[in-house]
Amino acid sequence: MAAVVSAASSLAKSVQELAINTSAPPEKYIRKEGIGGSPSELPYLDIPVLDLSLLNSSSPEAEEELKRLRFAFSSCGYFQAINHGIDTSFLDEVHDVTREFFTLPIEEKKKYSRDADDIDGYGNDTVYSENQTLDWNDRLYLNIKPENKRKMKVWPENPTTFRKILLDLTAKLENINENLFKAMAKSLGLEENSFLKQYGEDPIVLSRFNLYPPCPTPDLVLAAKAHGDASAMTYLLQDKQVEGLQALKDDQWYKVPIIPNAIVVNVGDQVEIMTNGIFKSPIHRVVTNPERERMTIAVFFTPDPTSEIKPVDELIDEKNPKFYKSVIDYTGNYFKFFQLGKRPLDALKV
Ligand code: OGA
Ligand code: NI
Repeated sequence: MAAVVSAASSLAKSVQELAINTSAPPEKYIRKEGIGGSPSELPYLDIPVLDLSLLNSSSPEAEEELKRLRFAFSSCGYFQAINHGIDTSFLDEVHDVTREFFTLPIEEKKKYSRDADDIDGYGNDTVYSENQTLDWNDRLYLNIKPENKRKMKVWPENPTTFRKILLDLTAKLENINENLFKAMAKSLGLEENSFLKQYGEDPIVLSRFNLYPPCPTPDLVLAAKAHGDASAMTYLLQDKQVEGLQALKDDQWYKVPIIPNAIVVNVGDQVEIMTNGIFKSPIHRVVTNPERERMTIAVFFTPDPTSEIKPVDELIDEKNPKFYKSVIDYTGNYFKFFQLGKRPLDALKV
């Protein structure tokens, strides 16, 4: 009995606490199928670097940049955004408050703990099933929009600038996202609002602050298991020093390189649906590091849950028949789809 109790209480611990005195992570974190491939030996993803200031400009280079956007999203589903208009000094502030939050004493952080049956707040991997392998990761997960979905009791007030910085970051990314959605439509020869129309009046913005503590057995434990994002579009501020993100392309894992101050942008499942599978929502994962901790900030843009998401008519023809069924509230149903198919998206194939 005692063993069960201590096993249960060790699971409630943050990964940060587990990482302090352990040479062997608890069984629940060990991958049964192994990880496959030593990260240090994997090749780097040849990830396009796009100049966002060109995408919607009237300069002659814009056309070329739109072609590169189309190539990026229809091949690996990723690009690194530069000239995105967010100052380096502001990005540093975002990284700084993230670090300050995660280095607060554990008791202070626990003031913002998520409830057991909720995802909003500070905590470790949400457990959906008994035999789930857990991720070596603590996160602070916050619903930012719509405003009535904010759970202010789990929004840190320490550091004092945290809330303001998060809202500023959101506003800047919203701007980028709107321009990117227009550019995506143009890159496919569509009217620029083709995707924004489906995006709806009251879209969802979610943020996830990730802490990946060092792990003594990196070959056995993942920091984030392989997944596709349930969003329409994801923006990631990578750690500026420590690598960890990997993307799957043609059945091969690639490391996503760090470009300091670039924003890593990836297609989420809902853009794959809207583009009838032309743009790919990449499968990705995060590996653990034996020595160094890693911190990232991910912001997810997701259509209004009442809006119907479906392949844009102009992208369906005899050569490219309709690939996905329409869906309402994909994000809300993500884990339900998970139960049906290997990948939630598979559940929506025609
Ligand atoms: C995510 C994610 C990657 C990273 O939060 O969905 O894939 O490097 N994060 O933190
Ligand atoms: Ni992800």
